[in-house]
Amino acid sequence: MTRFSAIITDEIPGRLGEAFGCYEIDSLPSQVGVAICHGFEVFPEHRGLGLGHELKRDQMLRLRLLGYRYAQCTVLASNAAQKAVLGRAGWSCIGTFYSTRQSAQVEIWGAEITETKERIRECTDSRRAA
Ligand SMILES: CC(C)(COP(=O)(O)OP(=O)(O)OC[C@H]1O[C@@H](n2cnc3c(N)ncnc32)[C@H](O)[C@@H]1OP(=O)(O)O)[C@@H](O)C(=O)NCCC(=O)NCCS
Repeated sequence: MTRFSAIITDEIPGRLGEAFGCYEIDSLPSQVGVAICHGFEVFPEHRGLGLGHELKRDQMLRLRLLGYRYAQCTVLASNAAQKAVLGRAGWSCIGTFYSTRQSAQVEIWGAEITETKERIRECTDSRRAA
């Protein structure tokens, strides 16, 4: 398991460099090109400011850089904020089940990770130049 954190760049003046959230990525043992994503969290004091979308962008870039081809996660069916974050990032619900541990309906979401390393380099370079 690898845990990553993300820091505020320039969206919130005065908070530059502060860590605002984290996520974890594992590989599916039998299929290492498939990422199992979990532990996705914007720290409580930073929630509701649009940083969930920013954290997801950071995670997507990380997944591409790590060479994954597909990513999966689970989310409580009642978690509207996380589902909005996933939907905007192009993920879709691919299944659902009832968790006896959580006594709640859970959804499985997935996304293809398609961009090439060259394209990422272009994006990173153009962000740096801006
Ligand atoms: C889910 C989470 C990552 C969202 O991050 P956030 O920074 O609070 O959310 P944002 O401000 O970026 O908003 C993301 C979207 O959720 C919506 N949203 C935010 N809070 C919401 C709430 N309490 N109820 C419903 N929607 C909400 C926003 O309107 C936004 O949608 P939009 O862009 O379509 O308008 C964050 O709340 C969190 O860490 N929660 C606890 C851990 C968790 O649930 N992680 C996911 C595990 S699968």
